[in-house]
Amino acid sequence: MTVPEPAGEPDLSIPSSARIYDFFLGGGHNFAADRALAERIVELVPAARETAVANRAFLGRAVRACLDRGCRQFLDLGSGIPTVEPVHEIAHRHDPSARVVYVDSDPVAVAVGRDLLDGNESATITAADLTDPDAVLSAPGVAGLLDPAEPTAVLAVAALHYVGDDELVARLLDRYCSAFGPGSMLVFSHGSADVDDPAAVSGTEDLQRLARDSGHPLVVRDRATLRRLTARVDPLEPGLVDIGRWRPGEPGPGPVLGVYGLVGTVRDQSR
Ligand SMILES: C[S@@+](CC[C@H](N)C(=O)[O-])C[C@H]1O[C@@H](n2cnc3c(N)ncnc32)[C@H](O)[C@@H]1O
Repeated sequence: MTVPEPAGEPDLSIPSSARIYDFFLGGGHNFAADRALAERIVELVPAARETAVANRAFLGRAVRACLDRGCRQFLDLGSGIPTVEPVHEIAHRHDPSARVVYVDSDPVAVAVGRDLLDGNESATITAADLTDPDAVLSAPGVAGLLDPAEPTAVLAVAALHYVGDDELVARLLDRYCSAFGPGSMLVFSHGSADVDDPAAVSGTEDLQRLARDSGHPLVVRDRATLRRLTARVDPLEPGLVDIGRWRPGEPGPGPVLGVYGLVGTVRDQSR
């Protein structure tokens, strides 16, 4: 399903996950309702802001790993608002010819993204529902920029915990990973149901209840399930681990944040 362009102004009294996340990252594209819900989230999960920042930092390290392995195209599913170290800025620092397509269903994220990317010929944002890969992959902003024959990094970062059905998640990952040339990669992060550190997951049930009540049900999954759902890829070292421990920038083991992350190469199904 292509997400319809909003007929009028979006209702800013309804909080949005894209804008709450922007608030946690210190961005400027959020409104009173988003900030109020963000404050309630922090009451339940005091590390929520730190986790959002760490997730964005994981995304940056993962994008650089994909660039190092030769990916010059990026399809960022559930991208949020492309500010605060967004994928195109990271990619273009490394290679100005890299092409980046953002996809999000939040009308404000898309409207802000269009303004930010106006005149940028190598990055676009498309309003679409990531659970409809045919619509996403055929959307003009996607098909017009990404060459399906080229190796492409598919990013599903902190986005698939909004999809409740495990088998749908597996099918979506399979479809997106199969849509591009040899050498394609997957970057994935997802809320955890089984982190060893109880402090990292305290408040998770309250957070899920709050997310459900505010219209954005959130599913957490355990490591075994997430590895099964991402079986289409061969993970780079260190595998599917907490994002704080996926090649942490600083020396030492890195914090446990209650979110799993993985970067993998898409397995060639013909082998
Ligand atoms: C927590 S933010 C993550 C942003 C970014 N991927 C990151 O990790 O930095 C989740 C984003 O997924 C988007 N989203 C949720 N469900 C979606 C769907 N079915 N289709 C497209 N976007 C979706 C939300 O609008 C939001 O912007």
